[in-house]
Parts: sequence; structure tokens; C-alpha cells
Amino acid sequence: MGIRIKDADQFKVREDVFDEITLLALYKLVHKKWLSIIGGSISTGKEANVFYGERDGTAIAIKIYRIQTANFTTMSSYITGDRRFSHVKKAKKELIFAWTKKEFSNLVRAMDAGIAVPEPLVWNRNILVMSFIGKREIPYPQLRNVELKDPKETYAQITEIIDTLYNKAELVHADLSEFNILYGDKPYLIDMGQSVTRDHPRALPFLMRDIRNVNRFFKNRCDVSTDVELFNAITGRNEAEP
Ligand SMILES: Nc1ncnc2c1ncn2[C@@H]1O[C@H](COP(=O)(O)OP(=O)(O)O)[C@@H](O)[C@H]1O
Ligand SMILES: [Mg+2]
Repeated sequence: MGIRIKDADQFKVREDVFDEITLLALYKLVHKKWLSIIGGSISTGKEANVFYGERDGTAIAIKIYRIQTANFTTMSSYITGDRRFSHVKKAKKELIFAWTKKEFSNLVRAMDAGIAVPEPLVWNRNILVMSFIGKREIPYPQLRNVELKDPKETYAQITEIIDTLYNKAELVHADLSEFNILYGDKPYLIDMGQSVTRDHPRALPFLMRDIRNVNRFFKNRCDVSTDVELFNAITGRNEAEP
């Protein structure tokens, strides 16, 4: 099949990420013409790798959740071959697939609410394909690495994103920080695998943590609201200052 994996010398990356299941899922996506080129590695995170890719000349990002995570590999050396535990391995895989699907749905919900996120294109098993946020094969930098021209405006844009996410998409990002915002012409929200709906039992504490992270990042850069002020403004609650 017409699949090209560039940087074939990235052996470490290849072993860890491109196991049999992942390769099969990739071939399926290639066959269905969702992607034509798998390019270089953009990021190796705790649970996932992100690769640059192309679909008919259009840039895409391919996020692959690793099935062979370190913990699981050690664990599985004990339980593979023991047929009593084949369900453990299966359950773990299913969980990773569910996580991938969840990130896809969260991106759809955020996009439908008009928030700037990568456009989710397709998912298969542990692979999520989305539009590429960047230029000429280079992703826009994470917010933490940007020298902001107008921090006050960017702060307003980001608090607006949190508000729209909560009140229109009815989601809480739950891992919001200067690491999960890419900044180009404007801020883009990424990494929504862990995002939860507003009715999740821990939605409010997650929202408060997101707000704290954003305020912490901006407080040396411009005037910011207090954590509780912003929390109340977004949720319409009336919590007292701690
Ligand atoms: N759609 C995208 N377009 C461009 N780069 C992306 C995209 N998604 C992720 N990346 C790059 O990969 C990095 C990690 O992505 P992220 O979704 O935050 O994964 P992780 O779960 O490993 O934190 C980002 O900081 C960014 O550099
Ligand atoms: Mg991230």
C-alpha cells in the first residue's frame, strides 16, 4: 500500500508506537484515503505521539495513543501467555480506543461551538487524524513559548474560550495550560482527550484548576481577574473568595 513512514531511523519511536494494531489501523486509514503521507514526529508525550502528515497535499496531524506504554509492557510480560488474563490486555486496548474516540467527540463539540480547535477528521482504534495547526510543516508554538504582543487581548481570548467551552459546548477542558494552547494568528485549544462534560461529578474542580493555570500564566503579563471571579462569571455561581 502507498504508505510512507519518513524518518525510518527513528527506531525507538517506531517500536513503541507502530505495533501491529497501530499499523493495521494506519493501513485502514490510508486505504480509505484519509491520509497519504506520514511525516516526521512532532511530539512524544506521556501517552501519545503526534506526527505530521498529509492528505492529498493538505497538512494533517496524526495523534497516536501508544498501546505499548511502559507500565503496561512490564505488566504484560507477566500476564501475556497466561490465558486467564487475556481480558486484561483487551480491556486496556479498549480503554485506549475509547479515549481516542472521546478526544474526537470533544473536538467536534468544541468546533461546533465555534472554538478554534484542530478540525477532527477521522479516528480509528488508537489513531486520531485532525487538521494541522501551523505553517509549512511546523506546528504553531505552545503558548508558553510565545512572546505575546498584547497579553491582555490574548487573556481575553482565552477566558472567552473557557466560557464558550463551558456554556455552549458544555465541556471543561480539564488539562488547560500554556502547554495545551497553540498560538499562531490566535490561540488554538488542543489535547481534549481528558475533557469532560459539564455534568461530570468533577467538572467544577477541573474548571477551577483550568482557570488557576491560565491566571497563573497571565498574572505576570497583564491584569487578571481573581480565580473565583472568573469561575463565578463563567458558571453564574456565587462562590465566596477563599
Ligand atoms: N492539530 C495539531 N496541529 C499541529 N500540531 C499539533 C496538533 N496536535 C498536537 N500537535 C503538536 O503535538 C504536541 C502534543 O499534542 P497534545 O495533543 O498536547 O498531546 P499530549 O497528550 O502528548 O500532550 C502539541 O504541543 C503540538 O506541538
Ligand atoms: Mg498536551
